[in-house]
Amino acid sequence: MTDTRYDTLTRSLHWLIALLVVASYGIGLFREVMPKGDARTAMLALHMSLGLSLLLLMVPRLLNRMVATPLPPVPMAPPMALAAKLTHIGLYLLLLLLPVVGLLAAWIKGRTVGLFGLPLPSPFAVNRDLAHTLEEAHEVLGHAMMALAGLHAAAAIYHHKVLKDGVLARMLPSRPAA
Ligand code: HEM
Ligand code: HEM
Repeated sequence: MTDTRYDTLTRSLHWLIALLVVASYGIGLFREVMPKGDARTAMLALHMSLGLSLLLLMVPRLLNRMVATPLPPVPMAPPMALAAKLTHIGLYLLLLLLPVVGLLAAWIKGRTVGLFGLPLPSPFAVNRDLAHTLEEAHEVLGHAMMALAGLHAAAAIYHHKVLKDGVLARMLPSRPAA
């Protein structure tokens, strides 16, 4: 058991970004089943604003990750430590790739992209075939992100409930009562 915690910025960004992933995913899927109209358009604008906020928050997250003193690793079996490392790398890659591919898909389709009303004009020419491919890739990456995040969350709960090694407590917003 360890009593060292991640710093406040790391913990805040972890949970804020996790919330934005889940909200963007839920809104993205919900919007697909909505009838065409203003509400559906507004949902896409919200989806894109949340996804772009996430992408912007990845800048302080990665900078902080690079400069913050790393926590001492929690002792665990080498295969488990390797699985955790690979999962974290996969999550970081998806956290960057998923919103970037979504943004490219939207721009290349000629959609109006904005960050909560701030217009972000496209630097690209419209290409509907390429946009369609990027949309498909965005959807697949979205499902991959949720699958990996689900596995990651299940592993964190397993550490907490079964191994009781303090891994989850290091990332919680506040320390659970003893
Ligand atoms: C982590 C952040 C994001 C997640 C989890 C996510 C997830 C999703 C999901 C699940 C869908 C529905 C896919 C389908 O069933 O066809 C979707 C659609 C879409 N997303 Fe994202 N997305 C994210 C970020 C973004 C960003 C930043 C943009 C653009 C600025 C974007 C643009 C779009 C567009 C244009 C669609 C509609 C595609 C279509 O009509 O088929 N997404 N997204
Ligand atoms: C979409 C949701 C989530 C994403 C994208 C995500 C992403 C990440 C990433 C990239 C890391 C690695 C941090 C680093 O070492 O730099 C991490 C660590 C961690 N996450 Fe998540 N996470 C999500 C949800 C959750 C949930 C729901 C839980 C708990 C049930 C959780 C618990 C943890 C814990 C305990 C760590 C620290 C692991 C360690 O110290 O080795 N995460 N998360």
